Amino acid sequence: MSSFHVLLTSDYVLASLIPLILLMLSLLILGNPRDVLDIIFGSARTRTTVPGHFSVQRAAASYAQYTQLARDELSAMRKSYGRMSWAHRRIGYDLGYTKKLARLEQSIETNAVVADAIARLAKSDFPEEVDDAQSSLLRPPIAGDLSRVRESLKHFVRDWSSEGRGERDKIFGPILAVLKEVQSEKRASLRVLVPGAGLGRLAWEISELGFHTTANELSFFMNLAFRFLLSETTTQRADQHVLQPYSSWFSHQRMTDTLFRSVSFPDMVPRLSEHFILAERDFMSITRPEGSDGFDFIVTLFFIDTSLNAIETLQHMHAILRPGGTWINLGPLLWTGGGQAAVELSLEEVVRLAQMIGFDVADDRAPQHMRHRTVECEYTADKAAMMKWLYQAEFWVATKRPTR
Ligand SMILES: C[S@@+](CC[C@H](N)C(=O)[O-])C[C@H]1O[C@@H](n2cnc3c(N)ncnc32)[C@H](O)[C@@H]1O
Repeated sequence: MSSFHVLLTSDYVLASLIPLILLMLSLLILGNPRDVLDIIFGSARTRTTVPGHFSVQRAAASYAQYTQLARDELSAMRKSYGRMSWAHRRIGYDLGYTKKLARLEQSIETNAVVADAIARLAKSDFPEEVDDAQSSLLRPPIAGDLSRVRESLKHFVRDWSSEGRGERDKIFGPILAVLKEVQSEKRASLRVLVPGAGLGRLAWEISELGFHTTANELSFFMNLAFRFLLSETTTQRADQHVLQPYSSWFSHQRMTDTLFRSVSFPDMVPRLSEHFILAERDFMSITRPEGSDGFDFIVTLFFIDTSLNAIETLQHMHAILRPGGTWINLGPLLWTGGGQAAVELSLEEVVRLAQMIGFDVADDRAPQHMRHRTVECEYTADKAAMMKWLYQAEFWVATKRPTR
């Protein structure tokens, strides 16, 4: 047999011809090549753009899936326990480990009350975006992000519980001290922007001082959680809600009871008003307030290092601040690594960048409360844990140099 004949009858050649034959048959039956492509890749009606990581769709789906995802994790823990020998399971039982897993199950139910309420609020606030029928058309359906839900729940503690007060005082204190220097009667006419506002406590505190304040946040994991506090339907009084925010991480615990401790929130009930508004979008899309030459203050707390392009972020801050306006910053430099952030600058480089862009950073000659300094602090920490993550965060006050 010739080698050409062998090639023509080989399995490889026949296998690669099958899709071509199927395509030709489909064209004969359906007539329109577009219909065939729709069948292969999904029709334009069902092809939907994948929602972004921080979109309202993804956040809402994640809160809605919290119970299931957390239970799946618990099942994995139970399976892992069950794989031990009978003798070891007996010891585990005597130590109370099976009871501990049962307590985790109860704790998931406790946290689910809040997560489910946030998911329901998302549906009523964003009926078009969070549409069950539409979501079911997504292939694959939106996978919930358990860690982002848990992070937002921990922010309730840092921002809105009595337990978080110590952490808040440490980092809000230096910022509010600068703003308190402004005469009370002038404050209402001054505009403050808080980019990356998270669950909004700092922005709300600033508005309570009398400033016109805009809390800007991109992530709907945060925005939906904050809306849960702002809405009269979901939050009517102080300490109305309860979470067990630390129960999902068994590490670094001295006592089992502290792992399952409950934290009630909010310690204060926030509401939006004429002088406290939300901008739920990318900071880069924020423009100067209408009819003005810019914000009077921009306050960044644990924010600038979340930028994927810090140069662009600082330039934008400069562009929307009025000449002579003030930028107050407090935070670390925890860049998104692995080449995701375009630049990962040292403190020295960030300060130099600010100067190059047109800011004057207050130094040792400035009044004490304005001086550039290091603030040792934590971030949504579990106070009872055997581990501490301490930041040597940097605080500075910078003024936008007026152009001549
Ligand atoms: C590390 S967290 C700090 C949150 C808050 N400032 C606090 O201290 O609790 C950074 C926040 O910035 C938000 N963020 C990041 N890039 C943003 C952008 N381009 N526009 C608005 N928010 C952004 C994130 O979603 C996140 O909530």
